[in-house]
Amino acid sequence: NKMDNTEVKKITRKSLEVLRLDDEKAAVPNGKDFYKYMFGHYPQLRTFFKGAENYTPDQVETSERFAKQGIRIMLAMHILATLYDDLPTFKAYVRETINRHRIFKMPEDLWDAFFPVWIEFLETKNAVTPEVKNAWTKLGKTFTDEAHRYIHAGN
Ligand code: HEM
Repeated sequence: NKMDNTEVKKITRKSLEVLRLDDEKAAVPNGKDFYKYMFGHYPQLRTFFKGAENYTPDQVETSERFAKQGIRIMLAMHILATLYDDLPTFKAYVRETINRHRIFKMPEDLWDAFFPVWIEFLETKNAVTPEVKNAWTKLGKTFTDEAHRYIHAGN
């Protein structure tokens, strides 16, 4: 797996096109679909979404909150992909993400749970080839390595 960072950027960005973040209307159902997938397959992760701890995928579907949150998470993934050829900035964005999640009191090991869910979600959109899976796995490892390093450094 000798994929370099510019290639990871190119491949992950391409895989995101299916989510239609370029179109404010077309993007919304895709963002909801992420949380429908997450809450349907990993219901324990709902714990951190206060007031939505027991949401079913059907409740996500009709939720204005998750319409907005779906856009936010898809935008965050576009930012990570786009920054992958600029690792210092990528890692600064990881640290900012950790800081912003502190209020949710997530156990540290939960950071490792995210990217497998993300890749599985992209699979439901037929956006995943073995190459795409490799690229997101590499990006996810850089994310979680920096997350753990930062938290262990006392932040
Ligand atoms: C917001 C949980 C991983 C990006 C949130 C919220 C929760 C949450 C509870 C508040 C939304 C609400 O309650 O309506 C989690 C959990 C994760 C995780 C449990 C791991 C399993 C990530 C990752 C990213 C991310 C890897 C990537 C950058 C965001 C963004 C927001 C958000 C952009 C919107 C608020 C903000 O920008 O601060 N997350 N998150 N999350 N999360 Fe996560």
